[in-house]
This record gives sequence, C-alpha cells and structure tokens, in this order.
Amino acid sequence: SRWLARGGDGRLHAEDVSLDRIAGAVGTPFYCYSAGALRQNYVNLKTAIAASNVSICFAVKASSNIHVLAELARLGAGMDIVSGGEMARALAAGTPPERIIFSGVGKTRAEICAALEAGLHQLNVESSAELEIVAEVARETGIRAPVALRVNPDVDARTHAKITTAKKDSKFGIAIGEVPAIYAEASMRPELNMVGLAVHIGSQILDLSPFRDAWAALADLVRQLRVAGLAVERLDLGGGLGIGDDAQAGPDLVEYASIIAETVGDLGCALNVEPGRWLAGRTGILVSEVLYLKESAGVPIAVIDAAMNDLMRPALYGAQHPLLTVEAPRLVESDDVCRIVGPICESSDDFGRYHGLGTIVAGDLVVFDNAGAYGAAMSSTYNSRDLVPEVLVNGAQFRVIRRRTNIADALELEQAGSWLAGENS
Ligand code: LLP
Repeated sequence: SRWLARGGDGRLHAEDVSLDRIAGAVGTPFYCYSAGALRQNYVNLKTAIAASNVSICFAVKASSNIHVLAELARLGAGMDIVSGGEMARALAAGTPPERIIFSGVGKTRAEICAALEAGLHQLNVESSAELEIVAEVARETGIRAPVALRVNPDVDARTHAKITTAKKDSKFGIAIGEVPAIYAEASMRPELNMVGLAVHIGSQILDLSPFRDAWAALADLVRQLRVAGLAVERLDLGGGLGIGDDAQAGPDLVEYASIIAETVGDLGCALNVEPGRWLAGRTGILVSEVLYLKESAGVPIAVIDAAMNDLMRPALYGAQHPLLTVEAPRLVESDDVCRIVGPICESSDDFGRYHGLGTIVAGDLVVFDNAGAYGAAMSSTYNSRDLVPEVLVNGAQFRVIRRRTNIADALELEQAGSWLAGENS
C-alpha cells in the first residue's frame, strides 16, 4: 500500500501523519516527503539490479535537501552531482567522497579543483576542452584525476524534447566516433586516470528500448577501446528511468535489470546508474490551500496558494501532476472539470484542467502527487514569494527539514555594497 492514503476519517495521511496536522504546524504551501517510501524505493531498485552488481548514485538535482540525501547515503547510496553546491550537499549528508560522481557539461576550474581535493570517485568529462582543464588542475594540485568520458551515443530517448540529452545535436557528451582518439590520447597522460565511460540519454523514460540502444553502443565502444589496448574499468549508465501514475504504468524493473545484464553485464566493468526521478518522484507531494473560486468562459477555476515558482514542471514542460483533495471528494453527478491556477501574474502559472475532483470550496487542501523529484529543487522566489517548507515524514512522526524563507531573508541578500569606481572614472 502506498504511503499517501486516506485514514479512517477519509482524509489524506502521509504514512501515519495526517496532512491536516502538518498544515496546521507549518502552514501552506509545503512539500512533504516519505522517508519510508524513499528507503523502500532504494532497496527495491538495488535488489532488482543486484545480479549485475550495479551501484546506485542518486542524482542530487532531483531532490537536494541534505536530509533526503542522508536517508539514501545511510543505505549505501552514492551521489551524482553537477555543481560545487551539490558536492557540498552530498558531503554534508554524510556521503563518502569515494561514492560521488561529478557530471555536467560546464564544470568550472574551481569546481574541478574542489572535486579533486575532496577525493571524489570520478569526474565525467564532456569535451576535449574540459579534459585540458582537468589535466591542468590535476598537475597544479598534484592529484591524479579519475576521469570517465561522457559519450553521446546519438540515441533518441523518446521522451519530452526538453529532457532528451543524447541525440547527435545535443550539447551533452562527446560524439561517439570521437571518443576512441580522445580516450587513447588522455590515457597517455600521467595526471589523468582514465577509468571508463559514461552515458545519460534523457529523463522520464518509460519505453526502455532506448536504454538498450545506448548501452549496446557503449559496450561496442568498450570492446573497441580494449582491442586498442586501453583499459576501461567502469561504466556509468546514467539516470532517466521514468515513473508512472494512475494513468500510465511505471517501468518494469525486471526488464531494466535484464537490459543491463544483456548489454554490459559481461564486460567485467564496475557498473553504476544515476537515477533521480525514479527514486524520489513518487515519494513527495506539494500541499496547497484553495484561496478563491471563480469562473472563466464557463469553466470553474480554483486559485490556490501554490504557484509556478513552487512547482515549475507544469509551466516549463506542460507536465500534469495528479491532484488529490485532502478531504474525501464531495462527489457530484456531472462530469465536473476544474482549472487549478496559482496566484502569479503570468498565464503560464496554470496547473491544468482536472476532472473528478468533486466540489471544491475555499479553504480546502489539495495535493499535487509525484512531486518528490524536480519539485522543491527547481523552485524559485519569483514574485518575491517565499521558498516553501520541506517536511519529512517517518512513520508517525514528521520533521521540518527546510523552514519557509521570509522577506527578511530576501532583503538581507540585497544589502548593497559601497559604490566602486568604474574603469574610466
Ligand atoms: N544523470 C545525469 C547526467 C543527468 O543529467 C540527469 C538528469 C540524471 C542523471 C537524472 O535523471 P532522472 O533519473 O531523474 O531522469 N527537470 C526535468 C528533468 C531534468 C533531468 C536532467 N538530468 C523534469 O522536471 O522533468
């Protein structure tokens, strides 16, 4: 049974805590996560891919609160990071540096330096130009850099265009045909430890066949490099495993595991994956209160206190998150439709049209489901709104793991410095 369910009173609970109780304590809107569901997802995935001995590095960008990361780190998860800030979070959450992989197309010299000094497991390098800087920093610091090359395998992940990352014209990775020469040249440099290859083809992938194409191409490349006498010890298979909802089934983990085994299982490489959404997506919700009801062109509209700055995915990708009412639905006879919109002064601050919510009244609490990944992590303070609290539930207890910001926090950042002379004055 799922962690988000109705109690005996018909109202929604998160594990054994009523959402009314949390709303009373922290106000709305707020994010709420289930520690139990997160741990269960990690164990389920780890078990499913155990036969190929695949380690799991959580993509920190999906949900970067250090208390969320700590739940996973405690179970043995590594972290996939894309910035110095994410590195600091992974380390603060107690992740050993030797379980952290640094991905990303634009690492700065300072970030590369910090990564080497922290002793991270691996840097996934995405261009020759970046490789030069990594070698330079390695020379300067005297720390040999563990490097994997991120390959662009020219595979269409068949997902939303904005989250596809491995077609030929993508900004990510090194074109697969160029990898052998770059890998061979880099292998001769004493300051670089060429450990292997990485690939990541996109996100929210439900049809698993693009994984097969990408990993099969990667396996061919490994064999080609080995024929040339080069060592390839590790393969980073990327993230991208999608999640389902009531309308669409989630991916089959058994199939995912068997694609790994069939494509790269017999290469003798150390394997890892970098899931973000699959681990965290269904373990979080955004709870909001209905402020006003109005009507536009005959369609009822509920204006809620959460907005596009809190949950950007509908405005950015046209994503529709399942919506539930905390109250048991007050069902009506007709096919009711209701638009749910936020208070921000933009037409794109619109969460979409929902059916079957029943009669909604001001003061009701509504819940956006499947908001545990790329929810709070992508939020902003647009319209000078506060960042909303994050709450972690564990059994019958809950804990605030990020407080709501306030306008004093924001104004503090705008303490101006003194006027400084420009160049020509
Ligand atoms: N590894 C790399 C190198 C990545 O770039 C990403 C995600 C992941 C792993 C994790 O992907 P996942 O398993 O979560 O699909 N903001 C978008 C998703 C952007 C994903 C970016 N990269 C959304 O809200 O749908």
